[in-house]
Amino acid sequence: CGIVGYIGKQDTTKILLDGLKELEYRGYDSAGIALLQNDNIDVFKAVGKLVNLEEKVNSVPKQDYYLGIGHTRWATHGKPTELNAHPHLGEYSYVVHNGIIENYKELKDELIQKGHHFVSQTDTEVIVHLFESFYNQLNDATKAFQNTIERLEGAYAILLITKVEPEKVFFYKLGSPMIVARGNEKDEILFASSDSALIGLAKDVVYLEDRMGGVATASNIEFFNKNVLWSKLPTSKQFAQKNGFRFFMEKEIYEQSDVVSDCMLGRIKDSEINFDEINPSILDGINEIKICACGTSYHAGITSSYLFERLSKIKCSVEVASEFRYKEPLLTTDTLFIVISQSGETADTLEALKMAKNAGLRTLVVCNVDNSSMTRVSDATILTRAGIEKGVASTKAFSTQTVVLWMLSLYFGKIRNSISKEKLQSEVSTLREVPKSLKIEDSIHEKAKRLSKRYLHGHGFFFIGRDVFYPLALEGALKLKEISYLHAEGYPAGEMKHGPIALADPELFTIALMPQNMLYDKIKSNVEELSARDSTICAISPLDFDLADDFIKINKSEHYMLEFFEMLVVLQLLSMEISIRLGNDVDMPRNLAKSVTVE
Ligand code: G6P
Repeated sequence: CGIVGYIGKQDTTKILLDGLKELEYRGYDSAGIALLQNDNIDVFKAVGKLVNLEEKVNSVPKQDYYLGIGHTRWATHGKPTELNAHPHLGEYSYVVHNGIIENYKELKDELIQKGHHFVSQTDTEVIVHLFESFYNQLNDATKAFQNTIERLEGAYAILLITKVEPEKVFFYKLGSPMIVARGNEKDEILFASSDSALIGLAKDVVYLEDRMGGVATASNIEFFNKNVLWSKLPTSKQFAQKNGFRFFMEKEIYEQSDVVSDCMLGRIKDSEINFDEINPSILDGINEIKICACGTSYHAGITSSYLFERLSKIKCSVEVASEFRYKEPLLTTDTLFIVISQSGETADTLEALKMAKNAGLRTLVVCNVDNSSMTRVSDATILTRAGIEKGVASTKAFSTQTVVLWMLSLYFGKIRNSISKEKLQSEVSTLREVPKSLKIEDSIHEKAKRLSKRYLHGHGFFFIGRDVFYPLALEGALKLKEISYLHAEGYPAGEMKHGPIALADPELFTIALMPQNMLYDKIKSNVEELSARDSTICAISPLDFDLADDFIKINKSEHYMLEFFEMLVVLQLLSMEISIRLGNDVDMPRNLAKSVTVE
């Protein structure tokens, strides 16, 4: 989602709409603005792209607003309808919000009991009612706002305006970005969730830290905390959109730690997994899971098939959607049909989903885009909350898909009673460690950069692994193919001896995924076999390995899935650095499209 805010003498409506346009890439299922003039607040909301909102705003006579807030939404709670679009209204105040209020249900019940009336299905609406509930008691908007913040759990960036103190914007941030800026003109303050919306309008900004907030008027910003650091805004938009990274792919690789946290928000509580969007009855009468997907999403599917069988004890098979469609598959209604798709639009996957639905199967989509074709067709949807992915080579979509599917396998295990309480507890505590394992240390990126030089020539790559590291090997090979145009294959390590090992020589590069916590001795023997035949080995492992020509050491951990995510980042960085060295267009590789809506 994206947030903007403005106080000042310029054309408030235009500044907010222009700002939202810059943020539209963050989500565009609906948008809205609230504008203040004297003590009157006007609100405009529209579903779909921003042009719809613009048309609405322009259809009424222009007013002189001196303050306003705006939002472009990427649905998390509640469908993308006008009612669910921000800003949200209480009796006399409006709020825009990014993030998730985890305890919104409890707050909502409490407020309804006090007589507050709710109109949307969003978590956001509780913020404005809570604020008004405090204001009604205290008659002091700043105190009411501070008390509100104290009650909110989760992650959020908030702007709030109110008729009772109409010259002010209240702001706060925890876990979701927010920037406050002094405008170029005198007596002008701006807010945005990303600096790209501020470029050209402001030079001095504060990138708010977590638990920072305050109250602003046109001439003054009062921060609740003392240590505020002003900095200069970059001047290039492209640079700002990429947050200083060279490519969107690089930005998205670095974002993974954060988006995976978003993806788990509200879904993990204590040692429980919960999906508000699905009902436990989804498994009634189900004996089998069938997964269909394409490309990177297919690799997330294979990874999860190991987890569904291991943790939920449900039979699980995976197929490439384009194969599934034409093989005259035998479908039985005791099968839960899961499709995985970043875009929700891939033609083959969509058709596979329709086939399963027509055959009477229960369907579920794991998707990054709400209101996409697949979410409309499928019986149930779980959103991955990765935010828009711009790089054609998929990165954060994959890590969030994998986390969703892992959580789902635990959730199913719980419903079926096939996982012990202790096991569930330890898996959930491992899940909480995933954001940390996706944090990128400079030394790892440097190493990938250095190695990229060595791996530019030769006659091809084998990526090998076992268990979930096999689909990870497939994904590593696909990343390299997509953006470097070098030949690469992913292979189950134990299968090399049945043919591919014939290719082994020093010009054959083997990227070996050697986790400590999953079949280490087995993969070690497979790598030794290749090394004995002079293949050049690059090992990725937490354990030292003498036979490797190159070695990328990842952090030690207790669980193979943490090693999985550490290695994922290494593979993504390595392929990106090789692609950069070759001078390719990393974000838009030749012959590929981000979303393939043709067969
Ligand atoms: C295209 C993209 C891939 C992606 C695949 C599936 O081929 O280039 O990166 O993995 O489609 O896309 P989906 O949106 O269904 O996950």
